[in-house]
Amino acid sequence: MAAFCMAVFFRGLNAEETFALTDAMIRSGETIDLGAAIGRKVVDKHSTGGVGDKTSLAVGPIVAACGVPFGKMSGRGLGHTGGTLDKLESIPGFRVELSTEEFLQQVRDVGLAIIGQSADLVPADKLLYGLRDVTATVDNVSLIAASIMSKKIAAGADAIVLDVKVGDGAFMKTLDDARELAWMMLELGRQAGREVACVLTDMDQPLGHAVGNALEIRETIETLRGEGPPDFTELVVTACAQLLAFSDLALDEETGRARALGAVADGSALAMYERWIAAQGGDPSEDALPRAPVVRELGALRDGHVRAIGAVAVGMAALRLGAGRRTKDDSIDHAVGVRCLRKRGDAVTAGEPLAEVHAHDERSAAEGAEAVLAAYDVGDEVPPARPIVLETIG
Ligand code: URA
Repeated sequence: MAAFCMAVFFRGLNAEETFALTDAMIRSGETIDLGAAIGRKVVDKHSTGGVGDKTSLAVGPIVAACGVPFGKMSGRGLGHTGGTLDKLESIPGFRVELSTEEFLQQVRDVGLAIIGQSADLVPADKLLYGLRDVTATVDNVSLIAASIMSKKIAAGADAIVLDVKVGDGAFMKTLDDARELAWMMLELGRQAGREVACVLTDMDQPLGHAVGNALEIRETIETLRGEGPPDFTELVVTACAQLLAFSDLALDEETGRARALGAVADGSALAMYERWIAAQGGDPSEDALPRAPVVRELGALRDGHVRAIGAVAVGMAALRLGAGRRTKDDSIDHAVGVRCLRKRGDAVTAGEPLAEVHAHDERSAAEGAEAVLAAYDVGDEVPPARPIVLETIG
């Protein structure tokens, strides 16, 4: 299989071959028919991974509050990108390991569940990914598409919104590469009889303000209250609109967007968040989330505009503070991380806070501060505007 991965890496797979690989991977384990189990059309979303990406945590409660069941299996973070399960585990008591039966029951009763991927689903992916990791063949569009889509198809949602991240902090560094991956995943989903849409979104800077597990849960709660950062809120609402358009409510995207905004405005999305977290054993109150003992504010060194914020650099700084793991057996500190208070395009004056570092001691705070300041590029020119949603496909 290592030789196979290397052959694919160097020679590529055509569409038919990629589908055959995906299909074989799906058949390596169990599959779930969510729609049949719930008795409704079920929607799902997936992100190719980034820095500060807590989108599913806000999308789930909004979509469920609009009356559409949302059942999702998620992964953990590795390297500079965070994982949804790690973020959820910063909530005291929250259980990510439910049996498939408990998962289905919760989607039926509450309308929303997010859990760890069952080991019985696509076991081939775990083995293949391990081999790709040690043979330096992770970065191949067919292998990435087959890996993501085999898990999405096996997990059983009828309709899937794929958020393909583009830029410094993403697998896909250019729009062209992201388009290729998006089209390939779209085709794989459609061939398996699923409705799929892709959004290509900016990962040239961290998403929202917060990077780090409990900090991202706090930002999710703020967003569900209608007080989230503009880029993150826009991405969440776009994904919700697409999911609601796919749902059995048969809305168009514009109406879906209005419903999503309505669920935030009337408090039903936040109420759904609280119900969901409690259903999985967690304490939904913000006060229950861990806080880092040291919070250091980083002032801008000069007047100007934020021209760029290196997403990988911020992700790595958060990892070194303890928010992420270098190897899959590392433990993480849920309280620590970074808040990027100023984002690309913002005007700043010298001394004004650019970011905050949340650390477990003064030494790591000082190291984190140096790394985060180095990730910020502040200069005279205003950088060209880059929207969060770059393109929609499908
Ligand atoms: N995410 C996955 O699940 N698999 C890949 O290969 C890359 C990103």
